[in-house]
Amino acid sequence: MTIAYDIETTVRDRYADGAREVQPALCCPIEDYDGRWLEALPDEIVAKDYGCGDPTRYVNPGETVVDLGSGAGKNCYIIAQKVGATGKVIGVDMNDEMLGLSRRYLQPLGEKFGFHNVSFVKARIQDLALSWDQAQAWLSKHPIQSMDQIPAFKAECDRLRQETPLMKPKP
Ligand SMILES: C[S@@+](CC[C@H](N)C(=O)[O-])C[C@H]1O[C@@H](n2cnc3c(N)ncnc32)[C@H](O)[C@@H]1O
Repeated sequence: MTIAYDIETTVRDRYADGAREVQPALCCPIEDYDGRWLEALPDEIVAKDYGCGDPTRYVNPGETVVDLGSGAGKNCYIIAQKVGATGKVIGVDMNDEMLGLSRRYLQPLGEKFGFHNVSFVKARIQDLALSWDQAQAWLSKHPIQSMDQIPAFKAECDRLRQETPLMKPKP
């Protein structure tokens, strides 16, 4: 017997649960973040931490930082304060619930910090050139109803990767 299962859907469902409610069993977050950077953050962003270390301590003013698998955005919002107005933070996640949570605080936290240097993009870590927000916008206008329509969607994804890449690989 073959058991077919889709790892990506399982990961998405698991983290969607984690965006809705704190899931203590999901990861092993550490406790010794520098409290200075947590003061400005909403409780739910601090609590919905599914990391297992503190990468924010290695970041310096003015740097541009990409957070692959940004989740609720705790690290991004800490780093935003550390890199400051001359730096930039890009959080990448594929999970709508996590992105909804992290993006909800873009405006209020930007106002609190006095600068807006964070963005959250929907993409898969293994395919950073393709914006899923853009691919979804195309798909909404051209819903796939038959196998024959799949090549057109694939061609559009390739066009988006080439013409409006979210991130360009280094030459
Ligand atoms: C372990 S959590 C870390 C979240 C956050 N960095 C933190 O410290 O709380 C992993 C995050 O990566 C996202 N993720 C997992 N696999 C991904 C993939 N292939 N592409 C994009 N996001 C992914 C999940 O949706 C989840 O939000």
